[in-house]
Formats: sequence, C-alpha cells, structure tokens
Amino acid sequence: MTAQETIQVRVVKKQAEAEGIASFELARVDGAALPPFSAGSHIDVHLPSGLTRQYSLCNASHESHRYRIAVLRDAASRGGSVAMHDSVHEGDVITISTPRNHFALHPAQRTVLLAGGIGVTPLLCMADRLARTGADFALHYCTRSVERTAFASEIAASAMGPHVRFHFDAGAPEQKLDLAKVLAAPGAEKRLYVCGPAGFIDHVVGTAKAMGWAQDHIHLEYFGAPAQDTSGDQGFEVRIASTGKVYPIAADASVVEALRSQGIDILTACEQGVCGTCLTRVLEGEVDHRDMYLTDEEKAANEQFMPCCSRARGKLLVLDL
Ligand SMILES: Cc1cc2nc3c(=O)[nH]c(=O)nc-3n(C[C@H](O)[C@H](O)[C@H](O)COP(=O)(O)OP(=O)(O)OC[C@H]3O[C@@H](n4cnc5c(N)ncnc54)[C@H](O)[C@@H]3O)c2cc1C
Ligand code: FES
Repeated sequence: MTAQETIQVRVVKKQAEAEGIASFELARVDGAALPPFSAGSHIDVHLPSGLTRQYSLCNASHESHRYRIAVLRDAASRGGSVAMHDSVHEGDVITISTPRNHFALHPAQRTVLLAGGIGVTPLLCMADRLARTGADFALHYCTRSVERTAFASEIAASAMGPHVRFHFDAGAPEQKLDLAKVLAAPGAEKRLYVCGPAGFIDHVVGTAKAMGWAQDHIHLEYFGAPAQDTSGDQGFEVRIASTGKVYPIAADASVVEALRSQGIDILTACEQGVCGTCLTRVLEGEVDHRDMYLTDEEKAANEQFMPCCSRARGKLLVLDL
C-alpha cells in the first residue's frame, strides 16, 4: 500500500470557535494553490509526535488558497486532538495529506444534512456548496449548548443561513430535533447525510431505515469508533500471500500490531477502523469485521478488511500482502 502524497502547510490562523473547538486555516508554505477538493473531503494531519489524525475540510470547496479544519479537544485523547490544541500554533509548518473524499455529495432534488457536534465540519462544506448552487436542502445542527456550537454566527450570516436549524440539548423542548418530522416522506429523489458521535449516527440511520429511507440514499461518516468488547477475543494466524510466511496474532494484539512487531508495516492512521487507511485484501479465511468504514455489503463480500481492528472468525486469514 502506498503512502498518500503530502504537502507542507503553514497555520496562517488558529482561532477558538466554541468551547473545546479550535479552527485552523492552512496555506501552502510555497504560496501555491492547494489541490482542489470536493465537499465532504478530509485530510490527514501528520503531527510532530508521529500520530496521524483525519480532519474534514470545512471551508468552501471552491477555495484554493486555504484549507480550514476544526478540531474538538477529546477528553479521552491518545494525543491527536490535544496536540492540535496545545502544540500547533499560528505560524507553525505542519505536514498534511492531499484531500480524500469518502463522504461525497450526490445529486438530489432534496438533501437533508444532520450534524451532531463536531460532525458539522464536512456538512458545513456541503451546505455551502448546496447554497451556492441554489439546491433544496436543510442542515439540522445538534449540539449540547450554544457555547459548544462552532461557526454559529458565520452560518447565520451566510447564504446557507435560512436552510439551517440549530438544536441544543440544553435548550427549550420546542427547538429540539424532531427526527421523525425531519425524515418524514423519504423518496428516490432525496438524500440523507449524517455525521457526529457514533450514537447520534446510529440513531439517525436506525430511524431513517425504519421510516423507509433506502440504504443507498443514507450517507454517513464516523469520526471515531465506539468501544468494543474484546473480552472473548482469540488468537489466530495470518499468512502473507507473497512470502507464504505465517504469523501468530495473539488474542490481545491487532493484526497491524502483530505484523509490525515482525517488521511488516501496514500503513495506518486512526487505528480505530474509521479512516480506511489500512484497507487490505483478504484471499482466504472469514473476517470478523469490527470497523465502521466498510459497508454491510463490503463486509459480507469478505474480500477486504481493516487489520487495525478486525480479526478472524477462524484459525487463519491469508492476506494479499
Ligand atoms: C474522516 C474523518 C474525519 C474527521 N474529521 C474530524 C473533524 O473535522 N474534527 C475533529 O475534531 N475530529 C475529526 N475526526 C476525528 C479525528 O481524526 C480524531 O480521531 C480526533 O481528533 C481524536 O483524536 P485523539 O488522538 O485526540 O483521540 P483518540 O486517541 O484517537 O481517541 C478518540 C476516541 O477514541 C477512543 N479510543 C481511544 N483508543 C481507542 C482504541 N484503541 N480503539 C478505539 N477507540 C479508542 C477514546 O476513548 C476517544 O474517545 C475525523 C475522523 C475521520 C476518520
Ligand atoms: S487505520 Fe484507520 S481504518 Fe485502520
């Protein structure tokens, strides 16, 4: 697997957007235009500590002089978001990847965007795009409180403003999100996009399906994986197809960790099964999928898996490495 192309960028602006959320504007160090991107894209940020984390681009997708990201400080951080908040400053030069999009907009007569907290970032870019093209859409932006709502005044003052509804957990009952109303009357000409905490996404998707939304008209992006129960995990073996060598995977190690300790490096970023970086082809053996990246159909096909978190159902997996 080849590493993605990287760019050196300078942090030209860093600012607090809400409680626990900071935005970063990034411009190329050499002053040239940044690679183009489409709404829903994200970049990898390579932190000085060696960690890599993904952040969605939340500026207008026609802009080429900057990328803007917004980062929520995660209280349970292994280091990524805390480093962005505490150690990345205006003027610093950092390395990022070129943009990737696993959450692209599809043409639709009506688009419904549902954001939970920091999950607003890719949807903000989508809402900007939809407003600029005169599309019929609504963005429902759910947060705990006004203080934790990034970009509220920017949204209200922009062309997307009339299409946006804010919903605060701490607010009056009449402004709370009425999901059944928002998702009423699904149709072939409508598309739904949801991003936010895993519980929020699962609730929206479950409700949408129950109300008759077609699976392929529901688009989602997880920023992180919910905790997994690993108490029943068993060891198994992995055979590398190109060499025929077999490696044991202990019950308490991931495939990535076990192979890395034997000098076989699989490119990773999130190591939680959400970013897609470690995607690896499977030639034999049944996968126990644990990721939030592959679709149900892709999981059922058993042709590829995410070795940072997924495991084997049987004794052996043969990998196309
Ligand atoms: C496509 C994409 C776009 C994203 N866009 C944004 C964005 O715009 N803004 C933003 O703030 N974030 C975004 N994220 C999330 C971001 O990449 C980081 O995951 C986030 O900043 C937290 O990183 P961290 O190192 O601080 O926390 P981590 O250490 O990665 O922990 C994050 C959460 O995962 C849990 N966790 C810790 N270890 C594990 C483990 N081994 N397995 C499973 N869970 C674990 C923790 O309890 C914690 O709650 C995006 C992620 C993806 C995949
Ligand atoms: S490293 Fe992100 S899905 Fe495996």
